[in-house]
Amino acid sequence: MGSAVGKISIRSQEELGEMAIAGRLASRLRRELGKRVAPGVSTMALNEYAERFLLQRGAKPAQKGYHGYPYAICAAVNDCVCHGMPSERLLMKGDIVTLDFVVEFKGWMADTAWTFAVGEISPEAKRLRKAAYQAMVSGIAEARPGRTIGDIAEAVGQIADAGGYGVVGQFGGHGIGKAMHEPPEVSYIGMAGTGRKLKEGMVITIEPMLTIGSPEVFIDEDGWTVLTQEGGLAAQFEHTVAITRNGPLILTR
Ligand code: MF3
Ligand code: CO
Ligand code: CO
Repeated sequence: MGSAVGKISIRSQEELGEMAIAGRLASRLRRELGKRVAPGVSTMALNEYAERFLLQRGAKPAQKGYHGYPYAICAAVNDCVCHGMPSERLLMKGDIVTLDFVVEFKGWMADTAWTFAVGEISPEAKRLRKAAYQAMVSGIAEARPGRTIGDIAEAVGQIADAGGYGVVGQFGGHGIGKAMHEPPEVSYIGMAGTGRKLKEGMVITIEPMLTIGSPEVFIDEDGWTVLTQEGGLAAQFEHTVAITRNGPLILTR
């Protein structure tokens, strides 16, 4: 999600090592959640699992309490783009659900999201999911010293265009480190060569949201849930990525 313009922190090798610990915890939790996504499971049960998983390991669910957000994870089902709140409603076969969360460990943050299939899903949903994953991968490939935020956006846009998908413009990625949301803003709308330049030691999230149909969104009455205006499905994958001289280093792999 968005963050202010301003100075972008540069992290030392040692700091990146500490962030990688938070990142590994996040990836382990993501895998465990993935195993538990199934028809008949509620997203509230997944939220409770996530909170317990982190607290038992001396980590914190950083989203809980963030601007008053009440849960450890966001759970975005079908036409929910992001910031969906966990609920007692049971997941159904054919749903897609994006689970998004931030792990804090010893003061360092790692942010990851994944769209999971609930049982067998439609060919359209499968195709969207693949494209959203590919868009993230292509964006990550641009996360190198000397490239720009616009280079990431262009790479994402090419994948979305090829599949005929929308890219959500109202929300994007962000720098991350001691805080969940730091500069720079990582918009996925933009042209190659434009925007802020990436340097060794920066850490950003790559988290494009792709939609079937228009990428226009609106926020539900609860003040959080972001939905596609047309009701089309949305999918999103997110990794926390360090810019290194050897290329992108995925901390949440
Ligand atoms: N994890 C989200 C992101 O990718 C942030 C969720 S906002 C919260 O930036 F309020 F739910 F925490
Ligand atoms: Co996130
Ligand atoms: Co994020």
